[in-house]
Amino acid sequence: MRIFFNHLNYLIIILIITPPASSDTSTGKQILRTNQTLLSQNQTFVLGFFRGSNTNYYLGIWYNNINPQTIVWVANRDNPIDNSTGYLKIGDKGNFVLLNSSGNPAWSSNQTNAMNPVLQLLDTGNLVLKDSSDTTNSNYLWQSFDYPTDTMLPGMKLGWNLDTRTEKHLTSWKVAGEDPSSGDYTLKVDYHGLPDIFIRRNQTIIFRTGDWNGERFSGVPGMGDNINEIKYNFTYDEHGVWYSYSVTIASLLSRLILTSDSDGQYQRYMWIQGTWSKFSYVPAYQCDYYRVCGSYGVCDNDASPICTCVQGFRPKNQEAWNLRDGSDGCVRKTVLNCSTDKFLHLENMKMPETSSVFVNKSMTLDECGSLCKRNCSCTAYANIDITNGGSGCVMWLDQLFDMVVFPKNGQDLYVRLAAADIGSTSSNKNHRVDLAIGITLSALVLVLGLVAICYLRKKSKQKSRATIPGFVHRSHEFLMNEVVPSVERNMDDLELPMFDFDTLTMATNNFSQNNKLGEGGFGNVHKGRLVDGREIAIKRLSKDSGQGIEEFKNEVKLIVKLQHRNLVRLLGCCIEKDEKILVYEYMENRGLDSVLFDKSKGPLLDWKKRFNIIYGIAKGLLYLHQDSRFRIIHRDLKTSNILLDSEMNPKISDFGMARIFNEDQMQAKTRRIVGTYGYMSPEYAMDGNFSVKTDVFSFGVLILEIITGKKNRGFYIDNEELNLLGNVWRHWHEGTVLTLIDPSIGNSYIESDVIRCLHIGLLCVQEHAEDRPTMSSVIFMLNNEVPSLSYPKNPGFFARKSHPETDSSSNKQDEIWSVNQVTTTMLDAR
Ligand SMILES: *[C@@H]1O[C@H](CO)[C@@H](O)[C@H](O)[C@H]1NC(C)=O
Ligand SMILES: *[C@@H]1O[C@H](CO)[C@@H](O)[C@H](O)[C@H]1NC(C)=O
Ligand SMILES: *[C@@H]1O[C@H](CO)[C@@H](O)[C@H](O)[C@H]1NC(C)=O
Ligand SMILES: *[C@@H]1O[C@H](CO)[C@@H](O)[C@H](O)[C@H]1NC(C)=O
Ligand SMILES: *[C@@H]1O[C@H](CO)[C@@H](O)[C@H](O)[C@H]1NC(C)=O
Ligand SMILES: *[C@@H]1O[C@H](CO)[C@@H](O)[C@H](O)[C@H]1NC(C)=O
Ligand SMILES: *[C@@H]1O[C@H](CO)[C@@H](O)[C@H](O)[C@H]1NC(C)=O
Ligand SMILES: *[C@@H]1O[C@H](CO)[C@@H](O)[C@H](O)[C@H]1NC(C)=O
Ligand SMILES: *[C@@H]1O[C@H](CO)[C@@H](O)[C@H](O)[C@H]1NC(C)=O
Ligand SMILES: *[C@@H]1O[C@H](CO)[C@@H](O)[C@H](O)[C@H]1NC(C)=O
Repeated sequence: MRIFFNHLNYLIIILIITPPASSDTSTGKQILRTNQTLLSQNQTFVLGFFRGSNTNYYLGIWYNNINPQTIVWVANRDNPIDNSTGYLKIGDKGNFVLLNSSGNPAWSSNQTNAMNPVLQLLDTGNLVLKDSSDTTNSNYLWQSFDYPTDTMLPGMKLGWNLDTRTEKHLTSWKVAGEDPSSGDYTLKVDYHGLPDIFIRRNQTIIFRTGDWNGERFSGVPGMGDNINEIKYNFTYDEHGVWYSYSVTIASLLSRLILTSDSDGQYQRYMWIQGTWSKFSYVPAYQCDYYRVCGSYGVCDNDASPICTCVQGFRPKNQEAWNLRDGSDGCVRKTVLNCSTDKFLHLENMKMPETSSVFVNKSMTLDECGSLCKRNCSCTAYANIDITNGGSGCVMWLDQLFDMVVFPKNGQDLYVRLAAADIGSTSSNKNHRVDLAIGITLSALVLVLGLVAICYLRKKSKQKSRATIPGFVHRSHEFLMNEVVPSVERNMDDLELPMFDFDTLTMATNNFSQNNKLGEGGFGNVHKGRLVDGREIAIKRLSKDSGQGIEEFKNEVKLIVKLQHRNLVRLLGCCIEKDEKILVYEYMENRGLDSVLFDKSKGPLLDWKKRFNIIYGIAKGLLYLHQDSRFRIIHRDLKTSNILLDSEMNPKISDFGMARIFNEDQMQAKTRRIVGTYGYMSPEYAMDGNFSVKTDVFSFGVLILEIITGKKNRGFYIDNEELNLLGNVWRHWHEGTVLTLIDPSIGNSYIESDVIRCLHIGLLCVQEHAEDRPTMSSVIFMLNNEVPSLSYPKNPGFFARKSHPETDSSSNKQDEIWSVNQVTTTMLDAR
């Protein structure tokens, strides 16, 4: 047996083994020991042995030079070898075999008839076996891509070969990052009816992608959100159903993984600037979970409650429905009478379950409709493919399950109703819009101007859904103190240093005026110096802040858990003699506003520093939104809440208004709108709806401010000079956006970088929340010259609030504003 074994400095890594009949083979010479690795040609991937947390050895493939080790494939996931004397060798059946220390096979590849088997790790991460005499490049006798574990790499195919009835699917690790053995979660293509993909926990379906409509899965409207570098491919015919994707930028590393984390998620990661950025995942929203609203129920993430019945249906179990359990679904108000039935047109839908439907790919929508009308058991119909104006026919012959309505990117669906239930839908719709506008106008004192009205017209559709009579409004809002105790069981183990009041009094020279850094509605901030010389910032909450000790403690314990380079660090607190005090690390350069808007200090921030600040804020925000253990919406991002350390690195501070969302929650509504003019997104300022996209909006404002050096004062529609968003957008349109760059930046910038950042800023401040990118997209776009950024739509801004208080104090910056003048109790980290 000849072995060509290469280490890092070799380029071509192929193992060539002489015919198995040779005498060497019988002695079982190893070809890959547990301390050796095999590199792909371009050194993208490594084949080798790794150890699970159970210290067993597994043969696997991972990315080369990426920390932490990211394993994409495991050979012997359910048959580990328990000691380092195991090895991989060529077997005598044209295959290769993994032997344990006693020389017994723990795992082997399938038998082939190769005379001279060659094992090669490709740069795609595919481990292939071929015959050395075979010069074609793709005739693999065996390939690891045919035996996926939990990771789907570009070029890999999942699905069914219907001729051989064989299948490829993903199975999560038992314990993410620790135990690679087959876990409880699977992701499988389902070929029945109109094919789609299911994620299951054991046998229970938890997520359904919806059918493929030519562009995306009907249940994943955000697929490819803002980037075109990932191309999905889903094909099916009588021979098979295949799902795959490719990445158009060769250097971009991206993977999809099915993990048991977060109770089962299918996640897209991108390798960006030295970390894996979680780019998107399902299930993400409440409505993503399978059959939340039962038969004929429609789930709407933006509505409250999330379940409604299709028009013409009523809740089957009104009692459960009132208690927000929609899983029993809905029943018809009027029984069908085949000949006179009509069809209700629903828009932006996730198609109902398609495992037992009638399908004809070549019929038109009209043909489909008349076939459905004639067939009395047909309950709904739709196009299969939405590209090129729509084609194909899918007909449901039973109840409709698992429907969702999206703000956009959904599909048209026609549901059979008794004529009596159909009403005159078109006039009905207009009436609702007018009514909603009327109601909303009188409710919101601050709404003025055309922009606002346009906004409302769009919004009103959603409003009318959310206010179905008989439903108690549910607040999605989770205050920190409501959530923390149940999430954090061992909170008391937390080592949060308690400072005593006397120490802090001394450190701040008895809270002297000279040491005061700032003043807010919730208390004062002082600079202090501890006996050991450490400088600290001390936030002393005013006594009448109204917050109880327990709430205060809980908030503190949450904040102390948030650890990220771009979040200001809480060092400890003090609870003594009615005093509630927070102690933070001291930030030499204070708030970003004090540098950015100060003509004399502006030049301290050259382009590189400004980009670094933008990027740092983005990372901090991404951490809050999806990387920390909670989903946290900051709600009050602004320049004065971005603190700068001595090297001008940004740190997000002030979590006083932050809200925690539970895992599957994406949006909430509050009656108490708190925040700062100029940074509030329209849907939040006007309706109190907030979500991660509320923060994205504020972040967009920050980008524009950082680049232009101008403050967004918000609402002066008639004065573009003061309305930064409108101003940037106008210049963007006219191609003169570079004239807006802060002169303090000098010539230190690269034009294309500045333009890209402004572009991203404009995408973030778009009027409609669903158009704004997520923070992971933002990070991606900041890092890459994405050729296909979408053109920004108009920014969200609205008429100035006509409120005497604001008018009289209009020179006061960063006014904390609350619609109904409720003073809230907040922690203001400074
Ligand atoms: C790998 O381990 C074997 C013994 O198990 C030893 O002989 C060999 O030198 C090691 N190779 C390397 C590269 O460490
Ligand atoms: C390997 O790297 C070379 C040079 O960097 C590049 O030209 C080639 O396309 C790469 N091959 C693969 C398969 O990535
Ligand atoms: C592995 O197991 C074999 C047989 O069980 C034993 O002889 C050998 O010492 C073990 N090696 C190590 C490194 O534990
Ligand atoms: C090696 O594998 C054989 C067969 O699976 C098993 O019986 C034996 O216990 C294993 N030996 C070790 C040391 O794991
Ligand atoms: C290949 O081997 C796997 C186990 O490693 C086995 O489940 C599968 O049936 C084999 N396939 C063929 C075509 O022999
Ligand atoms: C899945 O099934 C296994 C074995 O029946 C069981 O141990 C496990 O708890 C189940 N997992 C979940 C999440 O229900
Ligand atoms: C999609 O996949 C099918 C079958 O797997 C393949 O024939 C086709 O070329 C692929 N299309 C694209 C655009 O990659
Ligand atoms: C169905 O409608 C037709 C025409 O309106 C009517 O004659 C018939 O009685 C209806 N049948 C039922 C079962 O309601
Ligand atoms: C699909 O519909 C077309 C047009 O109505 C028809 O010609 C064709 O036979 C149908 N195909 C199947 C498989 O039913
Ligand atoms: C309705 O269409 C389905 C699917 O083609 C068929 O199986 C069923 O027999 C039809 N029913 C009637 C009443 O025509």
